Amino acid sequence: MLMAQTELPVYLDDSKPVEERIEDALSRMTLEEKVKMVHAQSQFSSAGVPRLGIPENWMTDGPHGIRAEVQWDDWGQAGWTNDSCLAFPALTCLAATWNPQLAALYGKSIGEEARYRNKNVLLGPGVNIYRTPLNGRNFEYMGEDPFLASRMVVPYVQGVQQNGVAACVKHFALNNQEVDRHTVNVNVSDRALYEIYLPPFKAAVTEGKAWAIMGAYNRYKGQWCCQNEYLLNNILRGEWHFDGVVVSDWGGVNNTEQSIYQGVDMEFGTWTDGMTEGRGNVFDQYYLATPFLELLRAQKVKEEEVDKKVRNILRLTFRTTMDRNRPFGSFVTPEHSLAAQQIAEEGIVLLQNKNNLLPVDLNTAKKIAVIGENAVKMMTIGGGSSSLKAQYEISPLDGIKNRIGTQAEVVYARGYVGEATAIQDGVKSRDIIDNRSPEELLAEAVEAAKSADYVVFIGGLNKHDGQDSEGNDRSGLGLPYEQDGLIRTLAKVNKNLVVVILSGNAVAMPWANEVPAIVESWYLGSEAGNALASVLLGDSNPSGKLPFTFPVQLTDVGAHAAGDYPGVNQEEYYNEGIFVGYRWNDKNKIKALFPFGHGLSYTQFTYGKASISNKTMQENETVTVTVPVKNTGKRAGKEIVQLYIGDEKCTVERPVKELKSFEKILLNPDEEKTVEFSLSVDDLKFYDEGKKDWVAEPGKFKVYIGASSADIRSTVDFELK
Ligand code: BGC
Repeated sequence: MLMAQTELPVYLDDSKPVEERIEDALSRMTLEEKVKMVHAQSQFSSAGVPRLGIPENWMTDGPHGIRAEVQWDDWGQAGWTNDSCLAFPALTCLAATWNPQLAALYGKSIGEEARYRNKNVLLGPGVNIYRTPLNGRNFEYMGEDPFLASRMVVPYVQGVQQNGVAACVKHFALNNQEVDRHTVNVNVSDRALYEIYLPPFKAAVTEGKAWAIMGAYNRYKGQWCCQNEYLLNNILRGEWHFDGVVVSDWGGVNNTEQSIYQGVDMEFGTWTDGMTEGRGNVFDQYYLATPFLELLRAQKVKEEEVDKKVRNILRLTFRTTMDRNRPFGSFVTPEHSLAAQQIAEEGIVLLQNKNNLLPVDLNTAKKIAVIGENAVKMMTIGGGSSSLKAQYEISPLDGIKNRIGTQAEVVYARGYVGEATAIQDGVKSRDIIDNRSPEELLAEAVEAAKSADYVVFIGGLNKHDGQDSEGNDRSGLGLPYEQDGLIRTLAKVNKNLVVVILSGNAVAMPWANEVPAIVESWYLGSEAGNALASVLLGDSNPSGKLPFTFPVQLTDVGAHAAGDYPGVNQEEYYNEGIFVGYRWNDKNKIKALFPFGHGLSYTQFTYGKASISNKTMQENETVTVTVPVKNTGKRAGKEIVQLYIGDEKCTVERPVKELKSFEKILLNPDEEKTVEFSLSVDDLKFYDEGKKDWVAEPGKFKVYIGASSADIRSTVDFELK
């Protein structure tokens, strides 16, 4: 018998253009179905259209691994046994690699994990600019420089999305602190907004083609960022032509009226304790749920307003869950472990290495003392929404022990007890409870240090409230738990002291001159211990550089010296304007403890003289700057060659110099490469507040080639005609 050929509805026919499919799907949906799509149905999901076979949307944190499942309607753990992920290094570490290829690998790998877990939106990456070292969430972001963050975010987004999973770039915008994050109103000049705070978001949207963006909690121009006419309608949709979906931060929508018209497409997390509020299905009470539906039914709001949002959500659906060519993903694979380790190794920053104390030489060392709580503390859990339930996490101590094996004796002493809580964010931590007195702990550490050939102190911050953690900022720049005193004592009893800091933020180091070697080791995820051991023992040559400035003291930071961080009566003024990070140091001639872009290697790189293809540049031309760089040491290594530009004379005040290009190169001993940078007029522009446009003024510019923002090796001048 012949069956009648049923014709595929347009929205299911992927040979048809997406916009046509969207309109077709929309035309089949009831008002109720549309409204259901624009707000959450559970903590992390929103409804599809079951009648039409349009799938639900499932979100996941983000940004360092795939978060464990929580309950349908509260934050409690769901208790699944198949949701332990691979933990990747924190985004500060990724930024410290200065390696866009690793950002692509990171995005691809985490995207595969998200896809395997059936998520179609990854809540990350975060690209809020590092404005103050006190911000509790800096570890989730990519540092202080808009150019570096932009170059790193684009491949991350592309890598995630090649899996048919949307990257949701967050938190748009000006969410530069945790204190008062739900209420603070940020007052910032248009110049600082456009030159410092927006560029990584813009790059993610216009170059990375991000399919989703998350509005921030805070306010700007008096409006919450999740319902913000200026940020969402004018800039994001208007100037950048964003066609993806705007997701609210969890609890970031604050009323119905503004959220209808001011840009947000999907409301999540309002009254985040879900049904425990005791008003039936609390998700129906969301601002964009029943209250919105009633306004639409009464025709007080045009149906077109919900259609606008649903179109964006359907576009997300067609790009992700309804893409028939979508790959299947993979979860906790050896490839992901390798990717995590590679990123971790390239992100670790060797800050100081007097007398070439590092790498640890196992030909001479018989005994190594590892001291400090962070050598054994789990760091994949804690920190707030980025907390993970990792399938495994190699601690620094285990990594070092595994690597050294029987080649030397490794002894461990705790030294101090900071936080030994057994459960964080619902996940059980390794048991590190220790009830000995501070005196006993110190005595044991000193004893271990005295007789060792090397002492490796592993301390820093952790992911508890008030440190590197969401919801709060740090109370100061100093290390907690009196680690400064312990470090000083150790430095006195053993001159071969290596201090390893685990943190996502700069910390004060009043002992820096008393200690030969200092390493910044971030939060490195599942492979933490292996990566750190590989660098300490010299299997891999460190090649990370700082993505933010380490100030000597807090008053050396613009947000604290000029700004009124954390604001007064919920109003905050970013008075330092564009002078964030090294731009502030340069302007005020303040020496950093460790400058932006700084990082050492176990080999040496010698820079030759930079030259420029043309001493003048016309509006539509490019000029090429070249510089020879040679490995003059004894090991192969990678160097990050940085190019900054300064505008010598301008009608507005400009930074002494700004990062405009960089290149990470691998050099064998004695090998020399000529690094080539191409510059165009766009690299010379500032944001003209009067013209509301980017402008380059003719005149002299200086190109600085450096190994860091404070270690300039060569300069060349040219003139824009
Ligand atoms: C955080 C977001 C996160 C969301 C969901 C919020 O509190 O600010 O970054 O994605 O929770 O967990």
